[in-house]
Order: sequence, then C-alpha cells, then structure tokens
Amino acid sequence: MSDELKRQAAAKAVEFVEAGMRVGLGTGSTAAHFVDLLAARVREGLSDIVGVPTSEATRAQAEKLGIKLATLDEFPVLDLTVDGADEIDAELRMIKGGGGALLREKIVATASEQVVIIADKSKLVKTLGAFPLPLEIVPFGLGATRNLVELLAADAGCEGEISLRMGADGKPFMTDSGNVILDCAFGRIEDPEGLDDALKLVPGVVETGLFIGIADVAILSAAEGIEVLETDYSGEI
Ligand code: A5P
Repeated sequence: MSDELKRQAAAKAVEFVEAGMRVGLGTGSTAAHFVDLLAARVREGLSDIVGVPTSEATRAQAEKLGIKLATLDEFPVLDLTVDGADEIDAELRMIKGGGGALLREKIVATASEQVVIIADKSKLVKTLGAFPLPLEIVPFGLGATRNLVELLAADAGCEGEISLRMGADGKPFMTDSGNVILDCAFGRIEDPEGLDDALKLVPGVVETGLFIGIADVAILSAAEGIEVLETDYSGEI
C-alpha cells in the first residue's frame, strides 16, 4: 500500500474525531498517519482531545507531536479508537498484531465506544489466515504453550507452521508487556470464532490477534477511492 493511500484512509478517520473526545491511538504505519493528522487538527484548534496510545511507539510519536495523553486507569471508557489491521473480512473480523501490539490494541479497542479501522483495500479478504496469526504468549513455559496451541488449533481445523517472532537483534521479539509472539501460518481460518475460543483455553496464551466483533467501521482506501464499510460488506472482494 502506498503511503499516500494510508494517509487518505487516516484523513477520513480524523473526520470521526470531535472536540472533547478520548481517543485510542492505534499502532502501525497507517495508524501513525492518523496520529500525525490528528495532531495537526489539535494544533489547528480541535480542543480537549485526550489520546490513549496502544504501544510505546505510538506514545512516543503522540507525545512528540503534542497530543495530550492519558491511560485507561484515568479514562476507562474511550469515545473512539482508530487503528490499522493486517487482514479484514466482510464481517469486519480482523487479524491484527503484525506490529506486535495486539494485546494493548485489543484492550484499548474493547474499551472504546466506537472502533474505526483504517487500511488499504488489499487487506480486505474473503477468508482470514493468509497473514500469519500473531498470538501474544507468556515467555514461561513457551514450549508447552506452543505444543497446546498446535493441538488445539488442529482440532479447530487450522494447521501450519508456528514460529517464534524474532527481533532485529536476533533475540525473541518482546512486546511492550514483556511477552513473546508466536506467528501461526494457518493459511485459511474457516472458523475464526472457533479458533479464537480454542486458543484462549491455553493458559500461556495472553491474547490472540483475532479481533472479532470489535470493529464498527472500516475505512478502506484504494486508487479508485475510499470505501467506508459498516459490518456485513456485500461488495466485491
Ligand atoms: C500492530 O500490532 C498491528 O495490529 C497493526 O495495526 C497492523 O499490523 C497494521 O499495520 P500497518 O498499518 O503498518 O499495515
């Protein structure tokens, strides 16, 4: 996706922000455009915006741009969250966590009255799963957790390579919450709800990258223009 298309989707999402709102700030390259454009609106006079970042990277960006920040302890309910996605289907079910921020993203999104997803239209898929599903895992007992993930995923109809995400330093990638990520290359996830339920039975799985029933609106940008979807999309994929 070109940077320009990401920015267009982000610009459309800024239209959802009103003065006084408490806004969850997503993570990733598309969400970074939103933070950038939101900061510009704040500088232009959009008043009393408070942001709750979904990652330390977003916190640093928002802080630098002068967006007032808070936590979910101060504001347990947010008006709006705007975030990116790795894959999204016609029912607005998603895979997220490509950037490793899935746990905080899910906590912030589920604390929000409205969740707006911004992405390029190539992320709209008929069936989730071509993008490897990230799972946030407690480091303790990783081998046992991985084994159970494999068994329960197979029971739920999903098989494929499960790999520990590595960082640029050659060590396991660590999330902002001190966990590791298993990326599950299942290829196709025919029953996302069933898989999500199964994986959550594994004690070492903190969260899955399946975001189901969370997005209210998806803003998808393409060369032909922007589409705004609100669950049960019936157009062409
Ligand atoms: C971060 O953990 C992810 O959930 C991102 O929202 C997702 O990877 C989308 O990122 P891009 O906007 O960079 O594609």
